[in-house]
Formats: sequence, C-alpha cells, structure tokens
Amino acid sequence: MVNIGFNIGDLHFKTPVLTASGTFGYGSEFDDFFDVSILGGIILKGITLEPREGNPYPRMVETPSGMLNSVGLQNKGLEYFEKDIYPQVSAYNTNVLLNINGSTVDDYIALAYRINKLEKIPAVELNISCPNVKMGGMAFGTNTETARTVIKKVRAVYKKKLIVKLSPNVTDIVDFACIAQEEGADAVSLINTILGMAIDTKSMKPFLSTITGGLSGPAVKPAALRMVWQVAKAVSIPVIGIGGIMNTSDALEFFLAGASAVQIGTASFIDPKASVRIIEGLEQYLGEKGFSNIKEIVGYINKPNI
Ligand code: SIN
Repeated sequence: MVNIGFNIGDLHFKTPVLTASGTFGYGSEFDDFFDVSILGGIILKGITLEPREGNPYPRMVETPSGMLNSVGLQNKGLEYFEKDIYPQVSAYNTNVLLNINGSTVDDYIALAYRINKLEKIPAVELNISCPNVKMGGMAFGTNTETARTVIKKVRAVYKKKLIVKLSPNVTDIVDFACIAQEEGADAVSLINTILGMAIDTKSMKPFLSTITGGLSGPAVKPAALRMVWQVAKAVSIPVIGIGGIMNTSDALEFFLAGASAVQIGTASFIDPKASVRIIEGLEQYLGEKGFSNIKEIVGYINKPNI
C-alpha cells in the first residue's frame, strides 16, 4: 500500500489532490462523473460577503495551450452559501474548503469570522490573487504591506487552517510566501493565474470585456513549477502547487519540485475525471518506483544525493 495522504498541521487530507477554486463549482456539478469524496479536498468557487454579478461577457477565451478568464468572482454571497450550499457540501466525506475574497480588508475579516463558525469547513484559502477585480484580489496580493495586513487580520479572526493563495504577478513570489508564513498561514497555494490578454484581429477588439484576464492551463506550467520550487525551498509550511497540471506526470513534477499537494484546475474543464486519473496515476508511479509514502518524493530534486 502506498500512502499518498498529506497534512496541513493536524488536518489530514486522504490524497494530495485537490480541485482548484472556480474550476469545480460546488462539487455537485461533478457528482455524475465520480465520487467527489475520493479527492483529498475540494476548494469551492470563490466566495464574497455580498453577492457579485461578475464581469460582463465575454469573460473566457481559449489561447494556445491555455485559457484566459475574467469571471470577476461571480457568486451569490455568504448568506446564500450558508443556507443553500453548505448543507449539501457538508455531506461530502472529504475536506471542503472555501476560497475567500473581499474588496476591502474589512470584507475579508467579516467573511473569515463567519466562516470560522461553519463546523464542516476545516480550512479556507485566502485569495489575495484574483486578477479580475478592481478592488481587493490581486491588488492586495501584489503589495507586500497590504498582503501582510490582510493575512494578519484574517489570521486574528480565523482559527482553523489558513491557506494563502499567491499571485504570480509579482517580481518575487518568495517574498509573499514568507510574509504568509510569518503572519501565521498554515500553507500557501500557488500560482493563481498570470495576467494576460488576447485580441481578436477580425473585430480588432480584445476578446475579453475587461481586456485583461487570468491565464491558466499548460501554458503556465513551467512558470508555476519554477515558483513552487523557489517557494518550497524558502518556507517550512506546506506548499500546494497549482498551474496547468493536466496529468500524473505534470503533478509529479510539482511534488518533485517541493509541493506537498496539488490542485487541479483547467484540466477539469477538459476531463471532469482528471483529478481521479491523477490520484490513480500517483499511486501507480510510487508503487512502481518502490516508494511507500508520497512524502519521499516531495522536493526530491533538492535532495543532496541527486
Ligand atoms: C475570477 O473569478 O475572476 C477568477 C478568480 C481568481 O482568479 O482568483
């Protein structure tokens, strides 16, 4: 038997494969494809205190080996979540995490305080990296002072596991990972999308209503992998790798670079069962290589014997 579980502190994840926020809805969208409880955890679509309509359409466009989105954190707000979604997602036999967002620091604090009371949510992913909103999001996560403030203040009110989702749209992501660790985060997840754009030469207009959007998919994987490797060497808290992971081999690269877990995002749009295939593939690879625990390969490329 190969052990592929991982922990953030005393919170156990049965597998190191989670689904990335915004790519897996509230889980129920995938119930027809597989038993969602197989996953180590699901990170639900980003939530805000108040409902948000999101950005005007068009807000998605395919690019070579990637996808640009500018959804703008569309969601029905916390009250709706508490009444209509929380009872459903509580039934999953896996960790259900919320990705939390705000336009102001006070929004983040109020949201984190209320979510802290939801018994079946053992952790939140603090999103200070959404590139598609005018206020909050990436604006907080690309400035070391505001990043520090929001992490510190959320940490003060949120008593369960706090994961900080980092933006790649900075000069040195390691600085932000270190701030997250210093301010008490239990883990970091990276990367959120890379700011990009695409122009329709027929209409001579940008494809997205917001002109720019967040790039994800295979196109970002080498950049994401490099940042995960750099961050994993700099912090002692778990690093969750995200960025263009389409298959087992991609996921393995992130573990070998130092990730303790991965999130599957864009791949789920192409194959709803991508995350399950990756779990199976990890078990097979580790078995074939003679490892009994996935921890043995985490950061393997940094080990002195290679
Ligand atoms: C969005 O809703 O615009 C994407 C969320 C994110 O990138 O964090």
